[in-house]
Amino acid sequence: MGSPRRVYVGAFAHCKSLEELDICDAGAIGVGESGRIEFIERDVDDISSVLEKQGWKGVKVVKIKDHGFFFPGFIDTHIHAPQYPNAGIFGKTTLIDWLDKYTFPMEASFSSLARARQVYNRIVNRTLSHGTTTAAYYATVHVPATNLLADICHAKHQRAFIGRVCMDTMSPPNYRDTSPEDAVAATRATIQHITSLDPSHSLLIPIITPRFAPSCTPACLSALGRLHKETNLPIQTHIAENHAELDLVRRTFPSHPSYTAVYDDHGLLGPRTVLAHAVHLSPAEVALIRARGAKVSHCPASNTALTSGAAKVRELLLEDITIGLGTDVSGGYSPSVLVAARHAVMVSRHVAMGSGEGEGDAAKLTEAEVLWLATRGGARALGLEERVGGFEVGMEWDAQMVVLGEGVGVDGEGGEAEGPVDVFGWESWEERIAKWLYNGDDRNTAAVWVKGELVHKTQAFSG
Ligand code: GUN
Ligand code: ZN
Repeated sequence: MGSPRRVYVGAFAHCKSLEELDICDAGAIGVGESGRIEFIERDVDDISSVLEKQGWKGVKVVKIKDHGFFFPGFIDTHIHAPQYPNAGIFGKTTLIDWLDKYTFPMEASFSSLARARQVYNRIVNRTLSHGTTTAAYYATVHVPATNLLADICHAKHQRAFIGRVCMDTMSPPNYRDTSPEDAVAATRATIQHITSLDPSHSLLIPIITPRFAPSCTPACLSALGRLHKETNLPIQTHIAENHAELDLVRRTFPSHPSYTAVYDDHGLLGPRTVLAHAVHLSPAEVALIRARGAKVSHCPASNTALTSGAAKVRELLLEDITIGLGTDVSGGYSPSVLVAARHAVMVSRHVAMGSGEGEGDAAKLTEAEVLWLATRGGARALGLEERVGGFEVGMEWDAQMVVLGEGVGVDGEGGEAEGPVDVFGWESWEERIAKWLYNGDDRNTAAVWVKGELVHKTQAFSG
């Protein structure tokens, strides 16, 4: 069994549905030794009577300060761990020249385990400190470094999907698979390593990772499709990010009707597939993704930085396609899902502006909606909706404690400032959460838990 039983007392918020942000300003959530939520009480004014009623007397209570609240841990459905040293470095490049100039050389350097150890320790620490309790990582082609990323996530207790990147064409000669068999054998080696660390894949899950269609031969795509069929492991890849990439796909797969059809025809499009970007899809492709039950990772910061385009998230949601958020480090400059959520709002406003005055209002995403994408949507995209992404009895306690300071007033009043969000006490909970979304950073994340275990804390946490 894991951590001892604990009761988390104070305000909490989570997304009930895409539209509904459920906020409770005086709650108590009991988490058992298994790391699962065993009870949720609302309108609590006397915690000792709750403990008595539940038969949990004497159990440790973790209390949140005024204006703070518990929130589900964030789920990053798309992040490249080895690209972290390049975060913020993209110049004026667009996807294909960015890959050649910055990305492939950086990833190639992960033939060095020393390099991998340095970068992977930092990115896992950094994502945890920003409240990311689940991350779907792309690693590199190197099995030892990919396995090391799994070791580090395991040691730090982050829930993680670990993908050994497969690419056997149109990639630098020193950084590619030598054959489809090589790609499959290397993927199997990582699957085996992860399974030896976590036999039931309770926190660590291998994910089959063809980088994207242009960097895989048809034989490689088919071999990975067969591996998926054999193992039913999830798949992650990129799709329809940028126009030059679409041209490349048309030239390299001339007999396929679309980019999406390329994945479909190779057995790579199904309910366990997470497609990053999905910016430039035809209606037929959206219909195919929907028919196959494949999921989308929306990466708005990356799509803006690399000037790829603005994904039409509302249209995809209306088609009933499940969407999560991705930081896409280092196409995206920040490892923070909060920043990705902020960009999702802003990109949706650009879509709205592009639709003509007034007409585009429907495209605008609300705060509740982007927070849903950052938690429940991501969980659903990764097949974890029964386990994480919200606070329900039976779900695992993947959570963050968000603290909001009253600021250090000019009159010397008010508490200690906690992070960059000033609240004044009279805002509604919705307004406070909006302030956190737009102004907050990791200083507002006082503590983080994964499956009931404390994995990160700052000085603001005294529990
Ligand atoms: N397409 C293929 N590889 C990549 C990558 O590393 N990042 C992004 N954003 N798109 C890609
Ligand atoms: Zn990516």
